[in-house]
Amino acid sequence: MNKFLPLAAISLVLAVSCAGPARKEVRSSDRVESLLSKMTLDEKVGQLVLFTSDWSVTGPSMRQGYIDDIRAGRCGNIFNAYTAEYTRKLQEIAVNETRLGIPLLFGYDVIHGFRTVFPINLGISASWDIDAVEESARIAAREAAAAGLHWTFSPMCDICVEPRWGRVSEGAGEDPLLGSRISAAMTRGYQGGDLSDPSTVLACIKHYAAYGAPQAGRDYNTVDMSERWLREFYLPPYKAAVDAGALSVMASFNELDGVPATANYHLMQEILRDEWGFQGFVVTDYTGINEMVCHGYAADEADAGRLAINAGIDMDMQSAAFFNYLKEQVESGAVSRKTLDRAVRRVLNVKEALGLFDDPFRYCSEEREASETLTDANKAFARKLASESMVLLKNDGVLPLVKGEKVAVIGSLAASRDDLLGTWRAAGEVDKVPASILDAIREYNGAANVVYAEGCKEQGDDRSGFAAALAAAKRAKKVVMVIGENCHWSGEAASRSDIRIPGVQSELLEKIAATGKPVAVVLLNGRPLDLSAESETAGAILEAWYPGTMGGYAAADVLYGEYNPSGKLSITFPRNLGQVPVYHYAKNTGRPYVHPEAKYESRYLDVPNEPLYAFGHGLSYTSFDYSDITLSRPIFAENGSLTASVTVTNTGAVAGTETVQLYIRDLVGSVTRPVKQLKDFARVTLGPGASETVTFTIGRETLSFWRQDMTFGPEPGDFKLFIGGASDAVKEAEFDYAE
Ligand code: GLC
Repeated sequence: MNKFLPLAAISLVLAVSCAGPARKEVRSSDRVESLLSKMTLDEKVGQLVLFTSDWSVTGPSMRQGYIDDIRAGRCGNIFNAYTAEYTRKLQEIAVNETRLGIPLLFGYDVIHGFRTVFPINLGISASWDIDAVEESARIAAREAAAAGLHWTFSPMCDICVEPRWGRVSEGAGEDPLLGSRISAAMTRGYQGGDLSDPSTVLACIKHYAAYGAPQAGRDYNTVDMSERWLREFYLPPYKAAVDAGALSVMASFNELDGVPATANYHLMQEILRDEWGFQGFVVTDYTGINEMVCHGYAADEADAGRLAINAGIDMDMQSAAFFNYLKEQVESGAVSRKTLDRAVRRVLNVKEALGLFDDPFRYCSEEREASETLTDANKAFARKLASESMVLLKNDGVLPLVKGEKVAVIGSLAASRDDLLGTWRAAGEVDKVPASILDAIREYNGAANVVYAEGCKEQGDDRSGFAAALAAAKRAKKVVMVIGENCHWSGEAASRSDIRIPGVQSELLEKIAATGKPVAVVLLNGRPLDLSAESETAGAILEAWYPGTMGGYAAADVLYGEYNPSGKLSITFPRNLGQVPVYHYAKNTGRPYVHPEAKYESRYLDVPNEPLYAFGHGLSYTSFDYSDITLSRPIFAENGSLTASVTVTNTGAVAGTETVQLYIRDLVGSVTRPVKQLKDFARVTLGPGASETVTFTIGRETLSFWRQDMTFGPEPGDFKLFIGGASDAVKEAEFDYAE
């Protein structure tokens, strides 16, 4: 029996909630206001409580009794529970056994696929294929929604230049523009054009804000940066997701400028709502409220809860601070009824936008669950995206491999299916991974033409397998060595103080290379690594990240040239940890290193300033030539623009895809400006000998930045413009902007 008003009421919230640019606080429907007026204090607090089920626990604590809490109307939201059957079971308790029957909201970390697992997000971002990024989120949403889920804790929008941080694997790398395009695309993919469509899910912008800049790269550690640096380089991807219509935000664990994000009014109200017009709800991260006691920002959990809701937090993930103390705080006036009702209204608005008041069971469909997941189409897409995500870092000609040639495959990771799924694999299961990289090479090349030796594990110092690996190498024409990190060495709570290849894998690589056999290294890893040693010994290095369910076949597709690699790094790979942080939008300094023998310039004594592999770097099995840049005019004014064009030619023998990148440099500003900033990019696919002219438009928005007075806009002056296939391989031009 439907206890709520008819569908008409939903249109108001939908029309506003999922439209384009975010608007100010939305007025609720009559249905929501009517419901709110009937709710008791306990029932209102219940809507602000989010507890994990005991299906999978993604944080440090788990409380028993969540089903009793649902039945008592004191828990209105559950995460880490899925399948149509189980979500229906819990939903029936909420709808049929509580006084008002308000439907539950089911959330889960679907961040790079649900049952069909795509590459980790750092890999997906290396594809630079925004349409494919959006499609991956569409497929993930369809599979998740078919399993009873309404809400995914994604996109992860945290900019990061810190390879020690394990969660760099979950994001889109170092660049605010690429990160913004990706977070907006994922939001569109998840939410679609109609959030009540049972094949879409609510997106959640996380982890707001600047979680990706922990000091020393240690997870959960202190974040401190200027407001200008925050706005210029870290906030854009969050805002892009808000502008794309995302209706939930997750506060990050970290403090920022001394105030934990979980109670940071400047972030949660002044920027997120007052400036950006966000109108959804804000949820904490896992026990984020309680952790403010450890931060030294709250005296106790009750105080933490009060600080959080008064700063703009609407929902408490797993702290139980709202569950335990909020009712009394409202009764005592420590938290106003207006604040409480505002939070409840935001949550109810989203539940209505999802269509849950019209049909609480619209997402519980065993038929869809069976028909929508792990389809051949989903797997084919996953295979293509995985190939597109791979980055050819080096190739002296050892790749592509030639079918029928005897190849030795070495490394424990070559035979691993589990590691292909990476971290945060949602409902991805190893037994649904059809092939390891070794299996796929055997299928490609014929098992008789492949000899495998584990050689060593991806960690530890056991060298007992070295002899067999060397023997295998000597029997082959070429060697493929799959090395890197165990997939649990990145992700949450997985920071490393050393970013070199773990264990004795590199030692074995060196011995294998010493046999004189051509060696191609395939990397499985979740962070930029120090590959200085491997870049000297391997003939080719293919960065495969953790490529997902179809990653074994995708790697073989690239190794054998079935797919010509097109990936480009979305994050800089340093020569060593000593260079970190190193990124493409660096400042010039007052003593740039321009004279090789000079002493008093900004340099190292032991390594060059340049990273090992630059942002935007990625090779192909073909080659691309760039013409000089043609500008439509040498200067443009206020509301005008100019265009910059290059002709890209495929000068090789095979078709390939190139990501053409546009950077600019503002030579003089009211604050110092980066030597390069990515401002646009375009993917072009060209057959052998073919050419295409790529044209970018530069307007005042392109040149805008946070000026010394903290206003956002351009400044007149001289500019450099760069276009190329990597941030360190560009053609150059100059133009002026006049106001
Ligand atoms: C975790 C993560 C967050 C995730 C949440 C729920 O601690 O920080 O990314 O969405 O808890 O699993």
